[in-house]
Amino acid sequence: MSTAASSRSFKLALVQLLVTSSKEANLRNARSKVLEAAKNGANVVVLPECFNSPYGTQYFPQYAEPLENSPSSRALQEMARDAKVYLIGGSFPEEKEKKYYNTCTIWDPKGERLGVHRKIHLFDIDVPNKITFKESEILSPGSSPTSFLTPWGRIGVGICYDIRFPELAMIAARKGCVAMIYPGAFNMTTGPLHWELLQRARAVDNQIYVSACSPARDPNSSYIAWGHSTVVDPLGVVVATTDEKESITYADIDLEKIDEARQNIPVTSQRRFDVYPDVSAGN
Ligand SMILES: *[C@@H]1O[C@H](CO)[C@@H](O)[C@H](O)[C@H]1NC(C)=O
Ligand SMILES: *[C@@H]1O[C@H](CO)[C@@H](O)[C@H](O)[C@H]1NC(C)=O
Repeated sequence: MSTAASSRSFKLALVQLLVTSSKEANLRNARSKVLEAAKNGANVVVLPECFNSPYGTQYFPQYAEPLENSPSSRALQEMARDAKVYLIGGSFPEEKEKKYYNTCTIWDPKGERLGVHRKIHLFDIDVPNKITFKESEILSPGSSPTSFLTPWGRIGVGICYDIRFPELAMIAARKGCVAMIYPGAFNMTTGPLHWELLQRARAVDNQIYVSACSPARDPNSSYIAWGHSTVVDPLGVVVATTDEKESITYADIDLEKIDEARQNIPVTSQRRFDVYPDVSAGN
């Protein structure tokens, strides 16, 4: 089942974790799934948004941890090191100087932290008498795009709502990223409507791989996630996906497909920055 990674291809694994209210159980379960993915040949493994905590502003203060030397950070570091994979550690609520962030940490196969992404676009909605959900009541936003280097090229990271803002993926692609990866948790309305569409849109616009990793659906939780972790190729084709249950989704990421897409449909080299600005300039 595992194809050996070459310099032009690698195996990506999306761990669609069933997140419970027990942080310890979530960390244990994440660890066993990351090790399983590595055993099946994964080189880069992704966990979902809020993998250590139920999703919801009411939970963030209780589950939040500092970045350095905290139980979730240490668990992620050990998972990456023991599995010998690049690990995009979903996100967990981070506490820093009395502020909270929705934070993704990225680890290399030696357990060194390669990067930190704090969710830039906070999800605030207020439909009177229907739904009010304001991350900004509790969270502070990050303020810089994030990418990290692997032996196969640079990978950009965003979190959930960040995918609705095309600029982040454009900046990543123009800085040479081969993929943009989003831990995320869409709900039962926005999931069927936009989850796949947004990934395909970011992929086809930028001719890179795009992937989003969701928690599994728990019908008893206060926020019901859509699931359907997905990988889209540089032509906008869904190359791997799943249903709502706990699972690991694998995809071979073939960098030749980026070159092929860009040769066949040369938007990447035919942009007119004399007519409109380049959002990646200055980033
Ligand atoms: C999901 O979120 C959207 C806003 O992003 C909201 O309009 C909708 O009511 C929510 N759906 C459910 C089932 O909670
Ligand atoms: C949801 O709750 C029901 C009833 O308590 C239980 O049987 C079921 O296992 C729960 N589902 C999950 C995914 O925890």
